[in-house]
Amino acid sequence: MNILLIGSGGREHALAWKLRQSPLCHTLFAAPGNAGICEEADCVSLDVNDFSAVARFCKDNAVKLVAVGPEAPLVAGLADALREEGISVFGPSKFAAQLEGSKSFTKDLCAKYGIPTAAYATFDNEAAALAYLEQHGAPIVVKADGLAAGKGVIVAEDAETAEKAIRDIFGGAFGAAGAKVVLEEKMKGEEASFFALCDGENIVPLAGAQDHKRAHDGDEGPNTGGMGAYTPAPVLDEAAQARVMERIIEPTVRAMREVGSPYVGVLYAGLMMTDEGPKLVEYNVRFGDPECQPLMMRLNSDLVELMQATAEHDLAGGSADWSERAALTVVMATKGYPGAYEKGSVISGVERAEEEPLVKVFHAGTARNEAGELIAVGGRVLNVTALGDTIAEAQKRAYAAVEKIDWPEGFYRHDIGWRAVAREGGERGA
Ligand code: AMP
Ligand code: GLY
Repeated sequence: MNILLIGSGGREHALAWKLRQSPLCHTLFAAPGNAGICEEADCVSLDVNDFSAVARFCKDNAVKLVAVGPEAPLVAGLADALREEGISVFGPSKFAAQLEGSKSFTKDLCAKYGIPTAAYATFDNEAAALAYLEQHGAPIVVKADGLAAGKGVIVAEDAETAEKAIRDIFGGAFGAAGAKVVLEEKMKGEEASFFALCDGENIVPLAGAQDHKRAHDGDEGPNTGGMGAYTPAPVLDEAAQARVMERIIEPTVRAMREVGSPYVGVLYAGLMMTDEGPKLVEYNVRFGDPECQPLMMRLNSDLVELMQATAEHDLAGGSADWSERAALTVVMATKGYPGAYEKGSVISGVERAEEEPLVKVFHAGTARNEAGELIAVGGRVLNVTALGDTIAEAQKRAYAAVEKIDWPEGFYRHDIGWRAVAREGGERGA
């Protein structure tokens, strides 16, 4: 089967690497891809916002399955346009993608179907939001309703910060994504992610993971797209996963059917493990980046089979098989990220890093210059990923590989996995 993968990040490199391992995969195309993806796939320049051009490409190249990596094309309706042309798509419809694309849509759905999440209220004007803030006070979480590249959430510890956030959002800081504001109770607990495949009706639970959103060691510094991740997440043990399935994922999939828009694709639940049990922080309608990278390292099952069964409503009785090992990813980013950074610095040593056993380096913002050297062209650039019998062992291997990479303009966190490693130490000591 010919497959088209949409995207250009570390997540998509991990998906490409895994799709390519399947005997079912004939030609893998990627649009637009990056330097790493182009080693696994035929990279093509397609404007993914031009849905008819994507459909035409699929017809011309006998593409039978389109796997969409990032959320933006899904929220824009790419899956609907391709399905109308009879092409199978791994990813939800425009309506169902509101689970990520509209925070108020998801909060209203949770309220209606009794899915545990933070208490909230939605506002379409500044005065009403400020009045609510005055009444409820801080701490409070202020969210722009729409997609804001991960920057639309402000966890305000004091009323002044909350007020500024409300004024900024209604003032247009996030454009149309800020037409509505959601104000939420601040939940307390440890965060974790859980992933499941849904074919509209049937659900195949995948696994749990945890990421590190802050830029610097000790979970300090500004929020980023994620500086590292690992799976499994010790905090999401079997009992917690069963509870997440029963109270959060299953009711959501039922609800989407009831509202007439069955959910097809991977559902990524961002969770807060509170004293009252797991609660939903947010949904994403795609794999996490970088969570996908360690997940793909641990997945034994054939990804083409799983994605095809998801897209073709054929997941009944299906399951995913995982390595007993843990996997951990360290993100290497360009100095300055998540703020301004330079592009074009040369990276060497990736091949040396991959000589370490059980290590794979997934590319994010990379390209080749005219001399054929690997260069950094993005904020997050490399995802050094390793397997280990424990998270501590995966961590050690990943950092040994990071040491082999020569890139003075890059930086990385030194403590990815600290929570899980501390827990493993605690268990050994107990
Ligand atoms: P989101 O974009 O919704 O994932 O939010 C980004 C981050 O903000 C989350 O990963 C949490 O760390 C934090 N956050 C969002 N909502 C809440 C909440 N209700 N309580 C506490 N933290 C939250
Ligand atoms: N790593 C967080 C995300 O993909 O949204």
